[in-house]
Amino acid sequence: MIILGIETSCDETAMTVLKIKNGKNPVFSILSNIVSSQIELHQKYGGVYPFLAKREHQKNLPLVFKQALQKAKTPISKIDLIAITSGPGLEPCLWTGVNFGKEITEKNNLPIVAVNHIEAHILINWLQSTDKKNQFKKIKINFPAVCLVVSGGHSQLVLIEKFKKYKIIGETRDDAAGECFDKTARILGLGYPGGPKIAAEASKFSDSDNRFSIKLPRPMIYQKNYDFSFSGLKTSVLYDFKKRKLSEKKSKKYIQAMSKEIEQAIIDVLIHKTIKAAKDNNAKTIMLAGGVSANKELGRQFKKAVQKKSEKTCFLKPNIEFSTDNAFMVAVAGYFNKNKKTSWKKVKVNANLKI
Ligand code: KG4
Ligand code: ZN
Repeated sequence: MIILGIETSCDETAMTVLKIKNGKNPVFSILSNIVSSQIELHQKYGGVYPFLAKREHQKNLPLVFKQALQKAKTPISKIDLIAITSGPGLEPCLWTGVNFGKEITEKNNLPIVAVNHIEAHILINWLQSTDKKNQFKKIKINFPAVCLVVSGGHSQLVLIEKFKKYKIIGETRDDAAGECFDKTARILGLGYPGGPKIAAEASKFSDSDNRFSIKLPRPMIYQKNYDFSFSGLKTSVLYDFKKRKLSEKKSKKYIQAMSKEIEQAIIDVLIHKTIKAAKDNNAKTIMLAGGVSANKELGRQFKKAVQKKSEKTCFLKPNIEFSTDNAFMVAVAGYFNKNKKTSWKKVKVNANLKI
């Protein structure tokens, strides 16, 4: 079967045409993967403005659609199912994509499946590249699994007892981890999106140069629950930044040292809480999901921490290109939820959708 995945929940207008060879061991082939990113536009404002993003989606959707079909050499008549992100996300952006999806679904008399964006981030962990380019196979995952979902809007610990059965066991009480990266990057004048900018500055820091001796808090790290809180971390960064002399604020070394400490404080909390959740729930697998999982240092330190916990625990994280928002994960989630396909009339947006 062939699925067209559509993603517009935030600042990416993305579509993927995905061919799936059905069966016990399905094989997934990406026929096209078109992304129109709005990063440059939002960089000017230091964050995503929903109505500006909506306007861009409206402009980009017909072009991305045309390119996705052309590149896949697949006419719309060959598409079997439309998979569309219906939440969570920015409401005006979600509606733009959903309305576009409904229109093509109605016009071409196709079934449609509404995809939960967070579930899509999680499910991408079930796909592993094969030797062939753009081809993936489904892997077997041992349960129970604990998934750390870390994106711009979410920080959650999810217990997965079996395939597609989720239980949120912890979540952020205020800012998400990605939001913390974005907001602290803005304080430091690094621009948007903050995660990659902070990571790039942090990687330039050298241990021998710690003259700024910055020590940020690790909020809630030793509390017995699995919840997070990152807004205090952001406030601490702001206080430190404000008390610095102008020459320090402008110094590359200060920005690098602060970026390193921000990144490490977030990593420490995420790893500590996830390992605790995994131990308490006898998890056989630990996985990461969402945009922050693109952070290389997080991945490296997580792998080490999981190995230290137990050689037997499996650690999974998405390929970097599919960590941040993409339409491939939406098409994949559409496939795994194909039994929920429905008529375009029934699809609604829910900006606060939970898994
Ligand atoms: O999942 P995602 O692409 O969009 C949402 O669903 O929110 O996640 C975006 C978030 C942003 O906050 C961005 O700063 C963060 O992921 N991010 C990173 C990195 N790449 C993206 N955070 C840390 N390190 C990165 N390399
Ligand atoms: Zn996302």
